[in-house]
Amino acid sequence: MRPSALLVPACGAVASCSSSSSDRHGAVNAGGPKMIIENDWNAGAAPQFLMALDYGWDILGLIGDTSNSWALQCSLHALALLEIGNLSSCIPVHKGADYPLLMTPKLMQTWERIMGPLPWEGVFRPQNDTAEALGSDPTDGDPARIVKAAFTEGYPNTTLAGYHAAAWMIEQVHKYPGEVVIYSGGALTNIALAIRMDSDFASLTKGLWIMGGFVDTNGLMISGDTMQADINTDFNFKADPEATKIALSADFPNITLVSNAANAPELFPTDALLAEVAEVRNPYTILQQKVTQTNLPFWDEATMLSLVDPSTIMNQTSFYVNVDTSFYSPTYGNIWAYQEALAPSRQTLREVNFVWQINGTAFQTALKRALQSPKTCP
Ligand SMILES: *[C@@H]1O[C@H](CO)[C@@H](O)[C@H](O)[C@H]1NC(C)=O
Ligand SMILES: *[C@@H]1O[C@H](CO)[C@@H](O)[C@H](O)[C@H]1NC(C)=O
Ligand SMILES: *[C@@H]1O[C@H](CO)[C@@H](O)[C@H](O)[C@H]1NC(C)=O
Ligand SMILES: *[C@@H]1O[C@H](CO)[C@@H](O)[C@H](O)[C@H]1NC(C)=O
Ligand SMILES: *[C@@H]1O[C@H](CO)[C@@H](O)[C@H](O)[C@H]1NC(C)=O
Ligand SMILES: *[C@@H]1O[C@H](CO)[C@@H](O)[C@H](O)[C@H]1NC(C)=O
Repeated sequence: MRPSALLVPACGAVASCSSSSSDRHGAVNAGGPKMIIENDWNAGAAPQFLMALDYGWDILGLIGDTSNSWALQCSLHALALLEIGNLSSCIPVHKGADYPLLMTPKLMQTWERIMGPLPWEGVFRPQNDTAEALGSDPTDGDPARIVKAAFTEGYPNTTLAGYHAAAWMIEQVHKYPGEVVIYSGGALTNIALAIRMDSDFASLTKGLWIMGGFVDTNGLMISGDTMQADINTDFNFKADPEATKIALSADFPNITLVSNAANAPELFPTDALLAEVAEVRNPYTILQQKVTQTNLPFWDEATMLSLVDPSTIMNQTSFYVNVDTSFYSPTYGNIWAYQEALAPSRQTLREVNFVWQINGTAFQTALKRALQSPKTCP
C-alpha cells in the first residue's frame, strides 16, 4: 500500500500547526518522556519500540528511512510490527525520504569499484529478483517497489500517516519544545532534512541518540572474516555521509553515539536467549525467535537501552567529531574524532558523547521483559 500523498499541513507559524492525520488516538505512556524512533525497520526490529515502551517512554511515532532497504518498505515493516501487538492506534508511522541526500545505488556501486566493496551494501546492492522472491527486502531499482515476501511478521493492514517524516518531526518538536529525544538507528537523511528545513529544529529537541559512529575499527576489519568487517563498517553513516555530517554538526542539546559498544560479544543474540524469550508465547517472542540472525549484534536495541536506562552505560567519553564527506576516500561517511585542543577551527564541529560499554546482563534482562510483556494501546 503506498501513502497517497505527502500533505504538509498548511499553516503559518509551525508552532500552531496541527494535523488530524498525525493526532494520536491515545498513548501507551502518556506523560512519559517523549521520543521519535527513526530506523530502517525490518521484520526483527520490534524490540526497539517495545523496550522504550517498557521503560515508560511515550513514543510519538516511528519513521522509516532508506538504509538497509528503501524507506517505503521499511515504513511498512514498522506498521506491521505495531499491528501484531495492537499498537497501531496509538503510534503513527511516517515514511522518510526515498533517497539519501546525494548517495544513490549507482553512485555507491561506483564508489565500491574505486575504494573496495562494502561487506554489507544495504539498499545499494544491485537488485536481485531471486533474493527478493525468497524474502529479502528490496535493494536498488525502484524505491517504490514493495516486496511482500519479506514480511515474515505479516503484511500491514494499516496505513502510513499522511505527510513527510521531516515535516512531521519539525511539527512535533515545536509542539513539545525541549521534550523530544530523536533516536536514530538508520541513516540520518530525514534528520538532516529537518535541520535544513527549520533552523530551530535541532535546538528544540531534547537530544539526538544514534546507533553509529565507529572509532578505530580498521584493524578489526582485517582481523577476521567479512562479517567481522561488516559489523565494523558503520553502514548507517556511510549510507548518507552528507546527512551524517549535517546531523553531527547541528546544535542538538546533546548527541550520543553508540557504535563500538554495540559490537560487544554479550550483545549478540544466542539461540539460548531467543529460546528463553520464546518460553512466553506472544506474537513478538515467536517472531523474534524466527527472524533474529545470531551473527549480528542487537545494535539498535542496545543503543535504545542506553538511552532509556543510562545506568546501563558502563563507560563513556566525549570528543569533537567530524565526518568524511570526500567521495574519493575509503573512509567516506566514517567519523574522525578529535580532542578539543586539536579540533579544526574552520569548521563548526561539536562535541558528542560516545558510549564505550553497555551492561550485557542488564541488556538481556531488559530485552526479555520488553518482548515477554509487551505494552498495548489503552
Ligand atoms: C493483515 O491481515 C491479514 C488477513 O487477516 C493477515 O493475514 C495479516 O497477518 C495481517 N497483518 C498483520 C501485520 O498483522
Ligand atoms: C491484540 O488484540 C487481539 C484482539 O483483541 C487479541 O486477540 C491479541 O491477543 C492482542 N495481541 C496482543 C499482543 O496484545
Ligand atoms: C541473488 O540472490 C540469490 C539468492 O540469494 C543468490 O543465490 C545469488 O547469488 C544472487 N545473485 C547475485 C548476482 O548476487
Ligand atoms: C547528555 O547525555 C549524556 C549521556 O547520557 C549525559 O551524561 C549528559 O548529562 C547529557 N547532557 C545533557 C545536557 O542532557
Ligand atoms: C573505558 O573504555 C576504554 C576503551 O575500551 C578503556 O580504555 C578505558 O579504560 C575504560 N575506562 C573505564 C573506567 O572503564
Ligand atoms: C549489570 O547489570 C546487572 C543487573 O542487570 C547488575 O547486577 C550488575 O551489577 C551490572 N554490572 C555492572 C558492572 O554495573
